[in-house]
Amino acid sequence: MLEVQGLGSRYGRIPALADVSLRVNTGELVAIVGANGAGKTTLLKVLSGVQPASGGQVRFEGADIGRERPRRRVQRGIVQVPEGRQVFGPLSVEDNLLMGTFARGRRDTMQTVWAMFPVLHAKRNEPAGTLSGGQQQMLALGRALMADPRLLLLDEPSMGLSPLLVGEIFGHVAALKAKGTTILLVDQNARAALAIADRGYILETGRIVGEGAAAALLRDPQVQQAYLGQ
Ligand SMILES: Nc1ncnc2c1ncn2[C@@H]1O[C@H](COP(=O)(O)OP(=O)(O)O)[C@@H](O)[C@H]1O
Ligand SMILES: [Mg+2]
Repeated sequence: MLEVQGLGSRYGRIPALADVSLRVNTGELVAIVGANGAGKTTLLKVLSGVQPASGGQVRFEGADIGRERPRRRVQRGIVQVPEGRQVFGPLSVEDNLLMGTFARGRRDTMQTVWAMFPVLHAKRNEPAGTLSGGQQQMLALGRALMADPRLLLLDEPSMGLSPLLVGEIFGHVAALKAKGTTILLVDQNARAALAIADRGYILETGRIVGEGAAAALLRDPQVQQAYLGQ
């Protein structure tokens, strides 16, 4: 579904990604594991078009999309949940969800989102800024679902959440995959990410330095030492 070849990106003269190649097959959940500053967020931003690439190719369902505007990519079904949720704080929960349909999707998907996250339904008229961190993450995920994603890009959904909430959020991510959504997941909680992923890539200072089946990465002594705290 997604094929990335030799991708680069830079902030001014400082490279953040160099020669990144990866693929995500239809229906897969692929995890990108890497330390703080490795370039994970930059990678997702380049894929959604909000950060320019300095070289390389991005193909989605066979089309070269590397120069397309973000809105066009959303219309293709590439939908990002940004790091730090980025909900619209003064807007109601319901209006945040409607914002998800700006470029793609249908308003009546809201019924599905309510069913998935009853707390969002209960708080639908509250300003999103008054929600807890976990609830805001659910809202950011719900907003993305409103756009009917074909490829969901998730940036650090577990950031700042208690272990209980991390389990809940990752459970929802695994359920979305089970229902057929293709997912590219970035998370510093490498263990939780690899536990629900099919495959994974290791990103180090902007370069892919390892890849494999998620189960194999979880057993790899070097990965365990560097990313799993063992
Ligand atoms: N807006 C920016 N301006 C300049 N440098 C940036 C900017 N955003 C990120 N960087 C740098 O790019 C590198 C990769 O950052 P990022 O993609 O946010 O990594 P990660 O998401 O893996 O923590 C880091 O060295 C970071 O300092
Ligand atoms: Mg990041």
